[in-house]
Parts: sequence; C-alpha cells; structure tokens
Amino acid sequence: MLDLIVTGGIAVTPSGAEPADIGVARGKIAAIGQSLARDNAKRILDAKDRLVLPGGIDVHTHLDMPFGGTTSADDFETGTRAAAFGGTTTLIDFAIQYKGQSLRTAFDTWMQKASAKATADYAFHCIITDLPQARLDEMDELVREGVPSFKLFMAYPGVFMLDDATIFKAMRRASKVGGMICMHAENGGAIDVIVQQALAEGKTAPKYHALTRPTTAEAEATSRAIALAEMAGSPVYIVHLSCNDALEKVREARDRGLPVYAETCPQYLYLSLEDMDKPGFEGAKYVFTPPLREKWHQEKLWNGLKQDHLQVVSTDHCPFCFKEQKEMGKDDFTKIPNGGPGIEHRMSLIYSGGVAKGRFSVNRFVELVSTTPAKIFGLYPRKGTIAIGSDADLVIFDADREQTISAATHHMRVDYSMFEGIKVKGIPDVVLSRGRVLVEGDQFHGKAGQGSFLKRATYSGA
Ligand code: URP
Ligand code: ZN
Ligand code: ZN
Repeated sequence: MLDLIVTGGIAVTPSGAEPADIGVARGKIAAIGQSLARDNAKRILDAKDRLVLPGGIDVHTHLDMPFGGTTSADDFETGTRAAAFGGTTTLIDFAIQYKGQSLRTAFDTWMQKASAKATADYAFHCIITDLPQARLDEMDELVREGVPSFKLFMAYPGVFMLDDATIFKAMRRASKVGGMICMHAENGGAIDVIVQQALAEGKTAPKYHALTRPTTAEAEATSRAIALAEMAGSPVYIVHLSCNDALEKVREARDRGLPVYAETCPQYLYLSLEDMDKPGFEGAKYVFTPPLREKWHQEKLWNGLKQDHLQVVSTDHCPFCFKEQKEMGKDDFTKIPNGGPGIEHRMSLIYSGGVAKGRFSVNRFVELVSTTPAKIFGLYPRKGTIAIGSDADLVIFDADREQTISAATHHMRVDYSMFEGIKVKGIPDVVLSRGRVLVEGDQFHGKAGQGSFLKRATYSGA
C-alpha cells in the first residue's frame, strides 16, 4: 500500500526527464513507473502537464542569526516555511562558534533554535571563529555528529576573520576526517583600510559598502583559499561568489583538477551596483557581503553555472527588515546589518533566468539547486534525486506559470524584497517533504518541529 502517488508528471533528474508516476510510502520514494496502480494508494496528486523535481536544497542560510547588534528576521519556522513555498525542502544553516566557546556549544545552540521550529529538514555547517590547538579535536567530533563542513572567514576582522595559519590548520584537520571547508573569501584586512578611509572622507551612504569591497579583494582571497587548500590537501567550497575575477580563480583551479567548488546566489545574477543608487537610504536593502557588482559580471556568472565552473546556487538568506534593522546604519554604512532575503525565490529565479531564458537545460537546473548540493554536502542519495529509497521530497513545478515577486505576497518575515517587481516563470504548485504535503497552492500544511536534523556523511567527492 502506498501513501500517495504523484501521477502524470515529468520527473526530472540531472540525467533525465521522463514521464513517470512516483509512489511514496513511509516518507520514501517506494515506486517509480509509467502507470502505477491508482487503487493501491491512499492519495493521488495529479502532476499532469507539470515537472516533478527533487526538493530544492539551499546550503547557505542564516536563520535566527545574531549579527551587527540585531538578529536575522526569519527564524527556523518562518524561514523553512518561506523556503517550502519556493520549492526548497532542505536547508543547511550555520552554527556559530563564538570566541572562547567550544564547537559543541555552537552546535547545541543552533539545534535549540531549530528543533522545535523547523517545518522541513535542516543540517548545519559550523562557523569557526577561534581555533586554538586544543579545539582541533572538536572538529573530528562534529564530523562524527553529522556536521562535516566548516565555514571560515577571510573577512570581518575582529569578528569572524581568521589568519592564514589558523585556516591552514583547519583545512589540514578537515582533510584528515572527511571534512569540507566553506570559505568566505574576501581580503578583510585590505577592505578595512579602504572602509576607514571612506568613513574619514565622510562617505557614509549604503553604496560605499559596495565601493569599499573591490572585486580584487574577493579574487585575491579566493586564490589564497585555493592555495591553502591545495597545500593542506583539502577540498574547498567558495561561498557566495559574486564576480568574474573570483570565478576565474575557481575555473583555473578546477582545470588543474583540484577539488574546488563554488556557489553563487540569485542576487549576483539579477542585481547590480546600480540598485544601490536607489533614492534615499534604499540602497541599504542591498547591503550584503560580498557586495553587488557591475552588471557585466552577471552574464559571466550565468555562463559559469552553465559550464560547471560554478556548481551550486544557494541564497545566503540573511534577512533584516528595512525599518529599524537596516536603519541602524542610516548615518554609517558599516552599521547596516549585512544580508538580504532570498530563501523563497531561488528555484523560480534560477529556472526562469536559466531554463526559460535558454541558458541551460532543466537537468542542469536540478543539478544546481538540488543534486550537486546534496552530493557535495553528504546528503546524497537520501536527498537531491528522485530514486527508490530516497526521501520523498518532491516539487510539482509548473514551468509555464508566471509570478511577479513582491514583499506584498512573499512569505519571508521581512518588509521588503530584493527582487521586487521581477517577473519569474516557473512556480512550485505542490511541495512534499518526506511524503508530507507542505505546500499546496497558497496553503501551507506544515507544522513547527516536524523537520528533522540531517546527520550528513563526510565529503567523498561530488
Ligand atoms: O552579508 C552577508 N552575506 N551576511 C551573512 C554572513 C555571510 O558572510 O555569509
Ligand atoms: Zn559569508
Ligand atoms: Zn552567508
């Protein structure tokens, strides 16, 4: 007996797009066939004329995250809910180790934030900010607990930034235990000098956040991260890559066969420095790090996604309301909390700009938003594919439906949209998480606490 059958859709994976019925039992995909017997199921979900995708996986989110004197506006309930409306059924968020704390404390703290609230499945990377010799063993312990990836920062001096020796030690340790290093690659020291000069010259408007963080600072740090990882014999995953200069460094390393991966985010594909010229303080809506770049970088990034120089699209969802939160930096751009909201629209923006615009195939789309994230981060084949035995995280996706993105209709707990007014083609109709209907049209059926923590496997190539 099946719990449900998704009938009549086109099931898409990186290698195929075939008409198929998909049978679900006890939260797993139990049958895939041309016409499964309907009387064998408690419920039928009709996917006729639509695609059936593996649930989206967003490997870069910041829910309920303290930052710059405030806290990101979505928690694990509102964030997973908004994600589900957009077809994303798995998140990897970041547990932050603050200076002097153990890595275990970071993990426990973020488990507490998530476990009673998440409506869909989640996992964690651990942000390391402090790594004396005595703490290195804790990396092994966390890997065993199902947290095999660590984010390190080359930016934000005095807050998150690590020196090269510490980065190198963390990489060497990660390489021994099957860990993955996720790198925020910007030269924080040089940027800080430029920022202090701008402030001294009275340049305090939001746009100076972008103008004080040159693409060369990102490219230099990307190149250094790759060199350190090569010396340490570890894989490295460059997060939120924003510009062609850094992309070139990743492409060169991959051409040499190094285990180097990179993600970009929809904001770098759709928005540019020009958005920061909006009147008044509106540019603050686009203050995140790395910053927006000149428009010509966008096509280079789309091409990078097509050519597999970039492997993943995540969101770096880190929402702060314009009122009261972004406004903290009204007189000084360095006091604007860094981050933007994007968890809800990743799938539609990438389908729309990628597949509907003819830049790449629907198979490549699935690879970028679900399959490769699962492979790199130890979730495959439980997540990221449509196969017997995989979790029944499925999205019935209407490739022809159009929508105009707006804060008036979105589900994120934030008072603006970075993508306000952008028309997308390709919208999720029904979203299942482990066989449970989370979203059906504009209805949400999920419940706080029903998401599970995902213990991830170690890195074994992508
Ligand atoms: O501006 C950003 N990206 N905020 C979130 C923290 C980070 O660096 O990913
Ligand atoms: Zn970052
Ligand atoms: Zn981030």
